[in-house]
Amino acid sequence: MFRIRSRFVSLIFAAYFLVAVVCVGPASAQTKRSPVAPNRERVEAIVREAYDKFRSDSTGKNADYIPYLAQVDPRLFGVAIVSTDNQVFELGDVNYSFSIQSISKVYTLALAMEELGYDKVFQRIGSEPTGRPFNSVPAVVDMPTHTGNPFVNAGAIATTSLISGRNEDEKWNKILDFYSRVAGEKLVLIDEVYKSEAATNAGNKALAMLLAKYERIYADPFESVDIYTKQCSVGVNATQLARMGAVLANNGRNPATGEQVIKSEDVPYILSTMTMAGLYDGSGSWAWHVGLPAKSGVGGGIIAIVPGKGAIAVFSPRLDEAGNSVRAQKVIEFVANKLDFNLFSPSSVGLK
Ligand code: DON
Repeated sequence: MFRIRSRFVSLIFAAYFLVAVVCVGPASAQTKRSPVAPNRERVEAIVREAYDKFRSDSTGKNADYIPYLAQVDPRLFGVAIVSTDNQVFELGDVNYSFSIQSISKVYTLALAMEELGYDKVFQRIGSEPTGRPFNSVPAVVDMPTHTGNPFVNAGAIATTSLISGRNEDEKWNKILDFYSRVAGEKLVLIDEVYKSEAATNAGNKALAMLLAKYERIYADPFESVDIYTKQCSVGVNATQLARMGAVLANNGRNPATGEQVIKSEDVPYILSTMTMAGLYDGSGSWAWHVGLPAKSGVGGGIIAIVPGKGAIAVFSPRLDEAGNSVRAQKVIEFVANKLDFNLFSPSSVGLK
């Protein structure tokens, strides 16, 4: 009698287990729900953990060579993730619109490649890390290409000078329209940032004139600096920035609008340049610790790309010596390490 009952109990357990597996699915089935969220709850928990861990970190200081940036509230702190299947996760100050600054350089590079092809852009700009600060004059003198790469100021101003148009307005509107298509919504210039930077950008004008001496700028130097200053003053919030990153993670296709905004053949050139020079003279340390293509801006934003999966954007105004947001670096490093997102890790790219 006892044996019959125990067999009956085992049978009930087996049936229960079968129903549970079929209905809920094993962990690997959940993995397939989203390429970026093996388990959305897990990603959210890790981002929250990082946010709490670094929330009170007040290391670094706001950029102050652009007066507007010095008075941005340094406590602002926002994190956004957008996956290639357009899942969005946000935490903190994600609605605050800050200036995109050097992150714009990624998208002007994409537009220049769209217009000219990647070979011509490579010939005219180059792609060597300078190992020097982003606004270095000696780098322009010493680098064989003078322009260095599209992400240092000199190379970025030269990249902007490649954009075609009948006049300055047409070139600028083309750039702004392109950024908006990448963000999946209309972006606008923060006029106060533009005015503040335009009044204090003698250094960039000097770089442009130096490039002219080497014949490495391809339109009027001061016009190019002005358009470049406008592109750096475009306002974005963390979520818009994460979506701009997700376009790169998604082979150039905007996961929200479905538009192929950047040619997929251009994406590897952009990501490799981000890996080598995205954080300027902090890029080697970043590659060592994080191993993801990323780009920083002195406005306090950083985007990091996980190819095929998605992008994370963090906004926090306090910067380190190289001009990279301190908390943004820490949050991205923490999240990427926990989720094993690293271009150079065999287990991360599916080799192990
Ligand atoms: O030209 C400049 O100096 C700024 N508009 C952009 C520099 C920047 O964002 C460097 N990034 N970390």
